[in-house]
Amino acid sequence: MLPVISVSPSMGAAELRDAIQAGLAPKKAAIVRGYFLEAEVENGLQGLRRSFDASRDQATIGETPDQVMTNFQKMNIGGIFNTRIYRPRFLRAIYNPIWEEDIYGLRGLFCKFAGLRNAILDYAPGYAIEAIEEDGSWTASRLQHYPTGGGFLVEHVDSVLASVHDWAGYKQFLQFLLPLSRKGRDFTRGGGYVCIDGEKIIIDDLMQPGDLAIYSGLIAHGVDEIDPHKPLQLGVDSGRVVAFANLYKDFRKNAAMDRRYREIPA
Ligand SMILES: [Fe+2]
Repeated sequence: MLPVISVSPSMGAAELRDAIQAGLAPKKAAIVRGYFLEAEVENGLQGLRRSFDASRDQATIGETPDQVMTNFQKMNIGGIFNTRIYRPRFLRAIYNPIWEEDIYGLRGLFCKFAGLRNAILDYAPGYAIEAIEEDGSWTASRLQHYPTGGGFLVEHVDSVLASVHDWAGYKQFLQFLLPLSRKGRDFTRGGGYVCIDGEKIIIDDLMQPGDLAIYSGLIAHGVDEIDPHKPLQLGVDSGRVVAFANLYKDFRKNAAMDRRYREIPA
C-alpha cells in the first residue's frame, strides 16, 4: 500500500506543501487525493480522444530539442534513445506545452497541475508555467499513452534525469503522475508500479479518478504490459493515458550544462 494524502484545492500553497511533504516522508511515494476532480481528468481524456490524430506520430529518435517545446507526438518503441541507456519501452509521448495551441483542451488541467507542483516544491505560484524562466526552466506538459495490446516501460530508476536535476539545481527529485485513464475501464491488465521495500506496488490498482501519484525518481518503477491479451490498438480510445507536468531545463542557454548533458555516460 501507499500512503493516501487527502487535500483540497482550497488549501493554500504552504498548507498543501506541508501536508504532502509529510505524507511523502515515510516511503518517498504517496497518492494525493482530492486536488483534481474526477470530471477534470475525464474531460481531459475525452478532449484527447476527440482531437487525437495518429498521423502526427513522429519517429522514435531524431527530434530536435525545439520540437518537444511545441505540440509534438512520437512513438517510443524499442530501447535505443538519445542517452545510450538500453531501456525497452512501447508508448506514445504527446508533448503539449502550455504556450502552444490547446488542441486537447488540457491547458487548464496542466496549469493546475504545474501550480500544485510549484506549491509542493516551494516555487512561486507561476514558476515556469506560462513561459520559459530566465534560468531556462519550463513545464514539459505532456501525456504518455501505453497502447492496448502491450504498451509497457521496463523497470528503471530515473538515473539520467536525477543527474540532470542535480546539475540544474532543482530542489527535490520527485515524479508527479496524473492518470487520465482508469484501470478496469480503459484497460484491465498491467499498469504503472513502484518497488518499495522489495514490494511491487501497482499504483493503477490503488488510484481513484482524480488521484495524483508522487514518487521519488530514485525508486525503481515501470509499467507492466497494458492488456497484452488483446490485439494491438494504437488509437487512444483504449489503453493507459497519464499526464505529467515536469520541470525541464533548456540547457542550450548554458553551454557548459549543454555539453555535460550530451556527455552523460551510458
Ligand atoms: Fe522513469
